[in-house]
Amino acid sequence: MQETLALPDYLDLSPDLVKRFRTIESRETILRIEHLRKDFVGRNGDGAGMPPVLGDISFEVKRREFICVIGASGCGKSTMLRILGGLEPRTGGDVRMNGHSVSGPGADRGMVFQEYTLFPWLTVKKNVMFGPRMSGHGKDASEAEALQWLDMVGLSERADAYPHQLSGGMKQRVAIARALANYPAILLMDEPFGALDAQTRCQMQRHLLQIWKNVDVTVLFVTHDLDEAILLADRIVVLGARPGRILEIIKVPVDRPRHQGQLLSPHFLAIKKRLEQLIHPDDSEALKDLPLMRMTQVGDEAED
Ligand SMILES: Nc1ncnc2c1ncn2[C@@H]1O[C@H](COP(=O)(O)OP(=O)(O)O)[C@@H](O)[C@H]1O
Ligand SMILES: [Mg+2]
Repeated sequence: MQETLALPDYLDLSPDLVKRFRTIESRETILRIEHLRKDFVGRNGDGAGMPPVLGDISFEVKRREFICVIGASGCGKSTMLRILGGLEPRTGGDVRMNGHSVSGPGADRGMVFQEYTLFPWLTVKKNVMFGPRMSGHGKDASEAEALQWLDMVGLSERADAYPHQLSGGMKQRVAIARALANYPAILLMDEPFGALDAQTRCQMQRHLLQIWKNVDVTVLFVTHDLDEAILLADRIVVLGARPGRILEIIKVPVDRPRHQGQLLSPHFLAIKKRLEQLIHPDDSEALKDLPLMRMTQVGDEAED
């Protein structure tokens, strides 16, 4: 697979970033996706003969790497994440987690979805205790574990609240704590901030970067928001649709620590432009074909 930086000639990578990419490359691979394919064929054969939802997807994720997967709506991002999580069977290829072929859900993969998935009848603390309890830890040990993770996401004071008493951003922080309480090797996140307002979303991005820095975890994060992908990722896997396939894997040349102040930096904008070209290649052509309906008089046009 072609890996690019897609930087104009006049932009250079900082020495820190060159070093960081070398360090990442030297780490072990924890997730290996090989020729992954997914066809959806219904019981009565619908979908047969259609292009696969995921064609032939191969890439690797290194330990402690932050990978974002972007692509237009419907290109198979959620399907891919559900397959990696073991929630959906694949039709072809292989998914290997630390060398073992994935055949179902496992504690080594923590999932966070866009929809709020906390158990509404349990308190925040009990939601986070759920994983440790299921894996056989005693009540006191699970409670201590839960409180530690709630502290990590800055919510220890809300331990006894119920999910409906929390804001959307807080619910997602609890969902992250709940996933981390199982000590996953990788967090699989499917547009986790997609339902939040813009300001909360920015806060959550900063928060996630801090958690990722403090915890030894790898992240695979699906989003359709270009700024979000550039702000978070070491590498961005760009998917195209029908069949879902990798268009390009891009190393993000923006220094860490990242912050929203970098959104207008030349490196950020160069990558954003490249992503736009890949994801919306012929938008302006399609827009030209929209029907024209005049409600103004000739000479009043908003633009020529
Ligand atoms: N259970 C299913 N049965 C049939 N088709 C599905 C199913 N789930 C998803 N699809 C189809 O797979 C494609 C990719 O969906 P999805 O993975 O949700 O895309 P994305 O998350 O990128 O928006 C869509 O065309 C969707 O209609
Ligand atoms: Mg989706």
